[in-house]
Order: sequence, then C-alpha cells, then structure tokens
Amino acid sequence: MTLQEEITRRRTFAVIAHPDAGKTTLTEKLLLFGGAIHVAGAVKSNKIKKGATSDFMEIERQRGISVATSVMGFEYKGCKINILDTPGHEDFAEDTYRTLTAVDSVIIVIDGAKGVEKQTRKLMEVCRMRSTPVIVFINKLDRPSKEPFDLLDEVEKELQIRVRPLAFPISNGPTFKGVYNLYEKRLSLFTSDEKLTASASTVEIDDLSSSSLDEHIGAQFAKQLRDDVELVEGVYDEFDHEAYLRGELAPVFFGSAVNNFGVRELLDCFVRIAPSPQPAPTETRTVAANEAKMTGFVFKIHANMDPNHRDRIAFMKICSGIFERNKNYLHVRSGKQMKFSSPTAFMAEKKSVIDFAYPGDIVGLHDTGNFKIGDTFTEGEKLRFTGIPSFAPEQFRYIENADPMKFKQLAKGIDQLMDEGVAQLFTSSLNGRKIIGTVGALQFEVIQYRLEHEYNASCRWEPISIYKACWIESDNKAQLDDFKRRKHTNMAVDKHGRDVFLADTSYSLALAQENFKDIKFHFTSEFF
Ligand code: G4P
Repeated sequence: MTLQEEITRRRTFAVIAHPDAGKTTLTEKLLLFGGAIHVAGAVKSNKIKKGATSDFMEIERQRGISVATSVMGFEYKGCKINILDTPGHEDFAEDTYRTLTAVDSVIIVIDGAKGVEKQTRKLMEVCRMRSTPVIVFINKLDRPSKEPFDLLDEVEKELQIRVRPLAFPISNGPTFKGVYNLYEKRLSLFTSDEKLTASASTVEIDDLSSSSLDEHIGAQFAKQLRDDVELVEGVYDEFDHEAYLRGELAPVFFGSAVNNFGVRELLDCFVRIAPSPQPAPTETRTVAANEAKMTGFVFKIHANMDPNHRDRIAFMKICSGIFERNKNYLHVRSGKQMKFSSPTAFMAEKKSVIDFAYPGDIVGLHDTGNFKIGDTFTEGEKLRFTGIPSFAPEQFRYIENADPMKFKQLAKGIDQLMDEGVAQLFTSSLNGRKIIGTVGALQFEVIQYRLEHEYNASCRWEPISIYKACWIESDNKAQLDDFKRRKHTNMAVDKHGRDVFLADTSYSLALAQENFKDIKFHFTSEFF
C-alpha cells in the first residue's frame, strides 16, 4: 500500500463525554464491531469513582488500566481506526485536552436523559478552538429521555455548533422502538435480545408512507415518525460534509450503547465521513500528512507502573511520512539523534513491537526521562508543532520538602512529573518558593503519592490563595516592567522562565486587564 493509501484509510479520534454518559460502553461496542475484542466487558472503565480520591491503590489501578487502553486500534471496512482514550475524572481534564491535540475528529456521547452536561461543554470548547470535526451520539434511549428536537436544540445552543440529525429515534424508554436512519433510509428495530451481539434487525424502508412501517412499529409510532422526519427535512438543511470537516456542523445519531443499538449506524457513517490525518501546524510551516519525511510529536507521557523502573512510555502521534523502527530521528528540542528498537503499537488489548507506523498512528516510545510533552521528532528539520497548550491551572499550593535528606530526589521527581504534564510549577518572584498549580484537587494527592513511591521523596503542601495564573507578555516594555514592579508580590515565573501573573481574585485580574491595556493575559500556553 502506498503512503497516501495508508493515510486515506486512517481515522484517529477520541470519544469524549461527561462521566457516566456511556463513553466506555460505546468504545467497547465500537471495538466489538471492529472484531478487536470478542466479549463485552473487555475494556474496563477507567474512571475514578467519586469518593475514591484518597484510595491510592485505586488511582494506581486506574493508571494501569489507562496505559492499556490509551490507544485502541482496529480495522473496520478497510479503515485503520485508532481510538484515543481520555480519562473520565474531571480532575484529569488537562490530559484529555492534550489528547485532543492528537486526534483528527471526536465522537461526543450525551446521555439522552441528562442532555448536555458541564464536562461536555468544556471539552467542546477545546474542539471548537481547534475546529475539530465532531459527531454527536445521544445515548441511553432505552431509558426515558428528553424529546429529540429538544435535545437537538440543546446541543446546538449549549455546544455552539449547528446540528444535523442523520438518524432519528422512535420514542424512548419502555416504548423505544428503534432508530430511523435518515440517509440510508433504513429502519433499525429495537428488540431486547440484541444485547452483546453485533447485529440489530434492520428493515429497508424507502418510502415512509408505506404501510409496512405501520406493521413494524404500529400506526401511532409510524405517524409520529412520518411527522418527525418531515419536520427534520423541513428544518434542517441537507447534511453538509464540508461544514462537518470544518468543525461547524455536527451530525447527530441516537441509540443505546449498552444494547449495542445505533452503534453500527454511527460507525458506518464515521468511517465514511470522518477525516483522515490532517495537516499539522508548526511554528514555521504546516506539515502535510503525505510528506515523505517522518514527523511526529509527543502528546502524552505515562510513567511505568513498576516503582523500580523510572522508565516511561511517551506517546507520539505520527504527523507525516513513515516511522521506522531502528531509524535515526532528530529529537528537535535536544538536537540529539535517537532511534527506537522497540516502538510499540496498540491493538485493543494487545501491545506489540512494530516496524512501521503511518500518519495518524500512535507509537509508544520507551523513555528514560528525556522527553517532554510537545517534543517533536523529525528526519532533520527543526520543526516544532504548535497547539499543544498547557491550560491556566485553577488550584494552587506551595510545595515544601518534608525530608531534608531527600532534596535531590524531590527536585528530580517534581521535574519529571511536570514533564509528564501532571501539573505546572511556578516560582514566586516574591520569596522564591515553589508553587504547584493543577486543574483539579486530586492531582495534589497523586503528586504526593507518586513522589513517595516512585522517587522516594516526601513533600508537604501549604495553602496559598490564588484565583488564577496567567502568562503575560507585551510589546510595550515600559508598561510590562511597570506592571511587574507594581505586582511584584503576585509575580512568578514558570518552568521556562516566562512571566506569570498570579491573580488573587477575579476582580484583581479584571482590574489588571483594564489598567494595563498593552499587556496580553494568556490563559493557555504552548509547551516548550
Ligand atoms: P463513562 O465511560 O462515560 O463514564 O460511562 P460508562 O460507559 O461507564 O457508562 C455509565 C453507566 O451507564 C454504566 O452503568 C453503563 O452500563 C450505563 N449505560 C451505558 N450506555 C447505556 C445505555 O445505552 N442505556 C442504559 N440504560 N445504560 C447505559 P453502571 O451501572 O455505572 O455500570 P455497569 O455496572 O453497568 O457497568
């Protein structure tokens, strides 16, 4: 197969959802269709249940699962599909944001009874920022759900994206009859015995006015469906594939993941419309997937589960060319040539050493502590991929050394955990103390636990009251200097020496933005 053919047949995406909407269940059903797994229950949910925040064994267990399910590849209808897993717990949202930098599209799962929830909105913001194409799957129709038109309106309004249903449900809850596929004009009937199998009973219905519709779902539901479909065709424009690819229009499907219902429709449509690997922007130019030379970037680093080995796995997304085992590549940040003797690929439950990988694929690289998130590999060109942001943290604590004999271990531990993207480190300009900033409170416990178990170091947290950290810059040097002087007690530098303003309150931040018009306040930063 040529490079272009390999690219064209690849689909790299993530399933995202508010916890409990059915992300794990849907992922598992997609793998079942792909033949990548054969029994339900093979993909364990990697969510950390509420209330388990201090159960560190649980966190460790989850970390183990999330290595195994980080990337799940399978073949379906000639396509090579890579699903990138994202953590369920919202304290790990930053991991999810970064994973979204490595996908070419997403499927959003929404609980039909709950509608759009908080985490869905936040994740959609990231998709919108990157113009990522999204498909929406409205799940749990076997339970009493909101009305489909209300759900469509809610998605459109809350997620700020135009929608176009490509399937339409017939009732929900105990009277759920099935889904009518609007573009294939096929009716899928919901029967309760199709749990765990990959086939649902489908009926071709070219003409909705035919009486066979009444025979299948009864006169009342048949009338309802005819009215609904007429309304859909009247209200929504034809599905516009280009608008979907630009991230402006989301096709919507309905179904019930746990009953394997509506999933095949979703997958068939996905392989047909979802984009293959897209051009990737760098600081100097845009890299096209079909360029002959290999390029890729690290979007995730995972520590080894074995505390005796400090080794890690770095996940690299291939952006162009063909990645080869044992070939020398330039690690752009260090300027060093590196080759990998055992790069791994992931196929559902299995991890295997590969000789080649293509754009869209994710390769696991063995790392002894040299890599950082955002690192680029090339065949010599000094590129750096952009759009791998670090988000302004929202929780802060001073970190103190609790064991004076273990100063070096602590410094090394902090350094490596920051490279993994677990949290961000700031140094106060006022007193030189180290401040750790995270997106969620759970991270502090994870850091403390991992410092102890992986680095043999111990830390203590002390409170600090900060509302938000934001990176500042300005072309107006005089104003920037003035700002830094006046706000001296609230200034810090990040790991790369960049200026960070630690605002005490939303009011002080708003005031600073008002009074210092030439200063730009950034709430995300690119990684270096
Ligand atoms: P998540 O990864 O998005 O957090 O959600 P997950 O798939 O774990 O699903 C959350 C719960 O919703 C699970 O129940 C799952 O069985 C259920 N679920 C998923 N899809 C459907 C559906 O289409 N209909 C119905 N009725 N339920 C669905 P649980 O009780 O938390 O776990 P389990 O004991 O069933 O595994």
